[in-house]
Amino acid sequence: MQFSPQDFQRWDETPDEYFYEQPRMVTHIDDAAIAAVTQLYREYFPTNGVILDLMSSWVSHLPDDVAYKYVFGIGMNTAELAANPRLDDYRVQNLNTTPALPFEENSFDGAGICVSIDYLKDPIAVLRELSRCLKPAAPLVITFSNRCFPTKAINIWLQQDMQGRLDLVDTFLTKAGNWTDIQQLDRSPSPATDPLVAVVAYAN
Ligand SMILES: C[S@@+](CC[C@H](N)C(=O)[O-])C[C@H]1O[C@@H](n2cnc3c(N)ncnc32)[C@H](O)[C@@H]1O
Repeated sequence: MQFSPQDFQRWDETPDEYFYEQPRMVTHIDDAAIAAVTQLYREYFPTNGVILDLMSSWVSHLPDDVAYKYVFGIGMNTAELAANPRLDDYRVQNLNTTPALPFEENSFDGAGICVSIDYLKDPIAVLRELSRCLKPAAPLVITFSNRCFPTKAINIWLQQDMQGRLDLVDTFLTKAGNWTDIQQLDRSPSPATDPLVAVVAYAN
């Protein structure tokens, strides 16, 4: 798949700090879809692991009954991150202006990006950074549904159906390099709820 610069443009190219200035204490997918995300985290993230919740908000979707050693969140809104009960620490960082992650190599046992990858203007750079920060064989769980803030999603995302989006994320990971065993999963709870799909990969 070849990309053009237009693929990564968005209708709203004002700085993301404007859009995310006000906290949104809402959930972006329904309860059944959130439960599907939580189940994936339960399956893939090791108990007592050090976990990165990238593009985080006031909820992490990590299972309540599983202990993690340390959970770090990166997002755009301080109030949302401060309200997130699972985060041990957090940082506001605009990944579209600063894709470099502020962590040493091999820092994390797992990472999640929930309903957010479509907002990255350079997802390949961020995914390359994530592979550097994850320990070898640590999982990355990227989940999404069929909803988004369309003005902030990249053009190529808006042009795809669900399978096209799965293939797109798969391609981002392949182009980023250093990811193995890339899997596409459909964990949609039922036709009556929000669909929930995932791309899972392991750091090299
Ligand atoms: C739809 S919300 C999803 C939040 C959370 N992951 C969840 O599952 O509820 C999108 C998230 O992406 C984050 N985000 C959007 N643009 C970002 C950027 N340029 N840099 C870092 N995070 C960003 C926002 O902070 C927001 O929390």
